[in-house]
Amino acid sequence: MPVTSRLFITGTTGQLGSHVIDALLEMVPASAIVAGMRDPARDEEAANAFRKKGIEVRAADYSRPETLAGAFPGVDRLLLISSSENGRRKVQHRNVISAAKDAGVGLIAYTSILHADTSPLFLAEEHRDTEAALAEAGVPFVLLRNGWYTEVYTWRLPLALKHGVLMGAADNGRISSAARADYARAAATVLAGGDHAGRIYELAGDASFTLAELVAVVAAASGKPMTYQNMTPEAFRSALLDAGLPEMVVRILSDTDAGVEKGALFDDGGALARLIGRPTTPFQTTITGFVHSQQSVGEASGHA
Ligand SMILES: NC(=O)c1ccc[n+]([C@@H]2O[C@H](COP(=O)([O-])OP(=O)(O)OC[C@H]3O[C@@H](n4cnc5c(N)ncnc54)[C@H](OP(=O)(O)O)[C@@H]3O)[C@@H](O)[C@H]2O)c1
Repeated sequence: MPVTSRLFITGTTGQLGSHVIDALLEMVPASAIVAGMRDPARDEEAANAFRKKGIEVRAADYSRPETLAGAFPGVDRLLLISSSENGRRKVQHRNVISAAKDAGVGLIAYTSILHADTSPLFLAEEHRDTEAALAEAGVPFVLLRNGWYTEVYTWRLPLALKHGVLMGAADNGRISSAARADYARAAATVLAGGDHAGRIYELAGDASFTLAELVAVVAAASGKPMTYQNMTPEAFRSALLDAGLPEMVVRILSDTDAGVEKGALFDDGGALARLIGRPTTPFQTTITGFVHSQQSVGEASGHA
């Protein structure tokens, strides 16, 4: 890759995107990085923070091809971070791939889902479509098939800590998660150098856990007893709906737990650790850190 290579990252207002920028800043000059965001005028603060670091900011709204036409000229490598707008992603991602092809981008890295080709998760369907679109486009590409972020499991913990019970439907299914920052470093590594075209990376944590094992870590970190209550997917779904969660969130949580029970989020191939050149962040570190941060917030507000 020539030293003047320009690396474009989409979705940099998001959590993964911002970690990717941080990792890239350790690998390449800021002038090599272009941060894409849906609307830099709307997210002026984030855009200006990047500009202060010497990073160029460009608009790249997956749903507005007119912004994409101006986004990628002069870009050598593109990281397409999958959209958070489930149900709209097929069209959105195809818009990005088409614009990147028109601009002559040399490599597209895409954040797909673990074992996308065989995954039973409904979330995998849009990723399979994007992988097909990449193959059809004829632009060299690399698939970063990300397993779950450990941070995903912190969403369920405040309620579980309150009631002393974590509900789920994953039974003894094992989850090979890693920290979001681990996946970000892998993406930055692929973008910053080496020949990764045509590669498919199944990215997951070095170790795996069941939800019962997760609960044991939470209990130890919080000093409070907690149990894991396994339910059928239908009963779990009803409980989530009764708790007032939105339909899409309920679908994702119940479908994911049902998939975990079948091994959808398990992988022991070690590709993530090899790519980032170090072990992945243990799930205990992320979970314990979250529980302690919750306790600090509680203590600061007088609710120990
Ligand atoms: N592996 C996992 O455990 C896991 C968990 C959750 C999600 N994901 C997937 O991984 C992606 C990155 O994760 P994350 O934690 O960074 O999610 P996030 O914090 O929700 O960030 C999502 C990013 O996608 C951008 N985006 C959404 N629609 C867009 C559009 N129309 N045009 C341009 N940008 C758009 C968002 O921009 P705005 O700020 O403008 O909305 C944001 O920058 C998610 O979007 C999702 O596809 C993976």
